[in-house]
Amino acid sequence: MQIKTGLLIAIEGIDGAGKSTLANILARQLIALNHSVILTKEPGGTHLGKQLRDILQTQLYPLDPKAEYLLFAADRAQHFHDIIIPYLQQNNIVISDRMSDSSLVYQGYGRGLDISTLQTINAWAMNNITPDITIYVRVAYTVARERILQRNMQLTAFEKEQDIFLQKLVVGFDDLLLSNPHCIVIDGTTTPEIVAITAIEKVLQWIKSRTKQ
Ligand code: TYD
Repeated sequence: MQIKTGLLIAIEGIDGAGKSTLANILARQLIALNHSVILTKEPGGTHLGKQLRDILQTQLYPLDPKAEYLLFAADRAQHFHDIIIPYLQQNNIVISDRMSDSSLVYQGYGRGLDISTLQTINAWAMNNITPDITIYVRVAYTVARERILQRNMQLTAFEKEQDIFLQKLVVGFDDLLLSNPHCIVIDGTTTPEIVAITAIEKVLQWIKSRTKQ
């Protein structure tokens, strides 16, 4: 089943919130309901993005915050060009694990870059397309930190940041998303199943309301 004009869903939250698990379950369930779904992510949804993701996650040498942001923006521009725009034009549901709000939060609130400059560059990279729905998986940074440590995987540059940085990220996502009418806020401290059921119910309600118009 294809949505008349495509549907862009961004999933946002701090590292360890459970976004990737949710993105996978949501995609599987929408496919089971016969929707055409593309699951993608930032950074790393394209060939260029995979190389940039490697640089950004490892940060073998310190990156200037502006340079760090511009690499995310380059990933985003290529992602919109190669994946998001073409698949939306073919009326698919495109689910992206992270998108522009991650830059506003990590590079804006976290690194202190000017938010309105980031918004301008994001809009340019995204051809002024914004997500129809943003799902914000919300958890306390202490819960997220604990989950990341339990994964027992090598930590990325962002996961190595101190608590003060994580606290800024939570403030940022809360400021940007809690009262945003396009945003579905989900409590990420419950089980992955409950998070997924809540998200899918809300997405289906949204699809239904849009097809009635
Ligand atoms: P990734 O492993 O994709 O994070 P996860 O899968 O846990 O979401 O690594 C991406 C990291 O990049 C993540 O820590 C968040 C950060 N990030 C930014 O700082 N700015 C951005 O614009 C984006 C998209 C991600």
